[in-house]
Amino acid sequence: MMSEEPIVYTQGLQKIFKDFWRRPRARAVDGIDLSLKPGEVYGLLGPNGSGKSTTIKVLLGLLHPDGGEVRVLGRPPRDVQVKSRVGYLPEESYLYPYLDARETLRFYAALFGLKGELREQRIDQLLDMVGLAHTGRRRVGEFSKGMARRIGLAQALINDPDLVILDEPTSGLDPLGTRQVKDIVSALAKRGKTILLSSHLLADVEDVCDRVTILYGGKVRASGPIRELLQMANNLQIKLGDLPDEKREELLTALEGVLGTRPDIEPTRRDLETLFLEVVAQARRETGEGSGTREEGELAGFLQ
Ligand SMILES: Nc1ncnc2c1ncn2[C@@H]1O[C@H](COP(=O)(O)OP(=O)(O)O)[C@@H](O)[C@H]1O
Ligand SMILES: [Mg+2]
Repeated sequence: MMSEEPIVYTQGLQKIFKDFWRRPRARAVDGIDLSLKPGEVYGLLGPNGSGKSTTIKVLLGLLHPDGGEVRVLGRPPRDVQVKSRVGYLPEESYLYPYLDARETLRFYAALFGLKGELREQRIDQLLDMVGLAHTGRRRVGEFSKGMARRIGLAQALINDPDLVILDEPTSGLDPLGTRQVKDIVSALAKRGKTILLSSHLLADVEDVCDRVTILYGGKVRASGPIRELLQMANNLQIKLGDLPDEKREELLTALEGVLGTRPDIEPTRRDLETLFLEVVAQARRETGEGSGTREEGELAGFLQ
């Protein structure tokens, strides 16, 4: 009936931080409109200080807005029913340093009333998924930044949320970790979950987001489907496979006949990420091992 209801909706959202004398100090969020559709991956992009984390905290009910409308899953953010359906990875994970990975997830599972066999199954699947199944009794206080990010991601999914909010999920991760997080995000979206993620590293999220909003100074500076934003209207590209030299010459001459000038041609470049992942995969095959963390398994089965 209400299938058109946005998963996240804000209209003219405002958050102004005041100083001790209650004078406005920072217009952290200055009139932001957002509308997330079910099952999409939405990127909130912008440089440091542009208002991403503040927006997220308002959506989570952790901060009270100073103006505008907010609805999450059709309700006010502080509604208890909303909280149980949202997963959140904070910008800084606050982990108890003396707990190991499993104990950490048990702690968060308990907050959602998960117990017994169900809880342990979910934890097993999540630890596998984020590649931390073999950290055993190691305390999370000794985890690298990347490992802390992974346990944070697992924690954000323990309640099988419908809406997953990830604040800078790739910060501190190497390109392999970044790729894995992006793959998990895409897989979650395929299962019908809605994902809102923030990042100041644009290239990190470019290929997972369906739509993005670019913030600067608490205001929306650009917004739309990522394909449309990146498209350059009057600049076309023709893709060709391997061409023998004489074919290429023939083609260029023909194009020159049509255009009046000889078009620029250059070989296709792969991006640095693709190259890096190939180099690492090659190295793994040669040494017959995984490096650092183990490769993560399937998307946790319980996530619906
Ligand atoms: N608790 C706070 N008190 C005062 N100012 C804050 C607070 N949190 C954030 N700000 C300010 O609000 C602005 C937006 O911050 P933030 O939302 O954290 O940006 P981002 O996540 O995009 O880096 C910044 O100018 C920041 O200094
Ligand atoms: Mg932030």
